[in-house]
Amino acid sequence: MDLMEAIKERRSIRKYKPDPVSEEALQKVFEAIRWSPSWANTQCWEVIVVGDPNMKSELANTLTATNPSRSSMTEAPLVIVLCGKKGVSGFKKGKATTVKGDWLMFDTGIAMQSLCLAAYGLGLGTVVVGLFDHKKAEEILGLPQNVEVVAMTPLGYPAAQAGAPRRKEVSEFVYYEKYPKKQ
Ligand SMILES: Cc1cc2nc3c(=O)[nH]c(=O)nc-3n(C[C@H](O)[C@H](O)[C@H](O)COP(=O)(O)O)c2cc1C
Repeated sequence: MDLMEAIKERRSIRKYKPDPVSEEALQKVFEAIRWSPSWANTQCWEVIVVGDPNMKSELANTLTATNPSRSSMTEAPLVIVLCGKKGVSGFKKGKATTVKGDWLMFDTGIAMQSLCLAAYGLGLGTVVVGLFDHKKAEEILGLPQNVEVVAMTPLGYPAAQAGAPRRKEVSEFVYYEKYPKKQ
């Protein structure tokens, strides 16, 4: 599959078939995360694969009733939870090296995009879910203090395709040399 096509054609999938995801496909998705870039190659990401229906339903309950991906969490055969180890990305000898502090969100964000694109290449659907009660999800998953949940995605075969939400034009967010002065 052409890379640009994959970047442009991947969509958030919110309707899933119950068909299982093979171990082979799952390993390919993890391999895509593995080769993602990260701060000084720190690879702070950690992944929890949830397939148990009760666990999926507990995680789904951490989403608000209005989150359009709430039912996707139980519909899909798997939920992949992307976590990050704190105090690793952007740190040197235990100290943050930039004003941004922990780069965990950044590195796990890249990892999530790798996951989503690899899944798309395999015919699998994903939707990044960020709007949920993170503290509750961390309790459900039994996370230690030094690891946090960043985002999750259902993983499975799409039952329905989704249209592409409108994107800004390139000219609306790309500037040359300097940030433009206010008109
Ligand atoms: C950080 C992040 C958090 C998101 N959280 C949610 C969410 O909680 N629920 C949901 O249905 N979609 C969520 N989305 C999916 C976006 O709504 C979606 O990516 C966007 O509308 C563009 O659509 P597309 O992915 O089909 O191109 C999230 C996406 C990102 C990147």
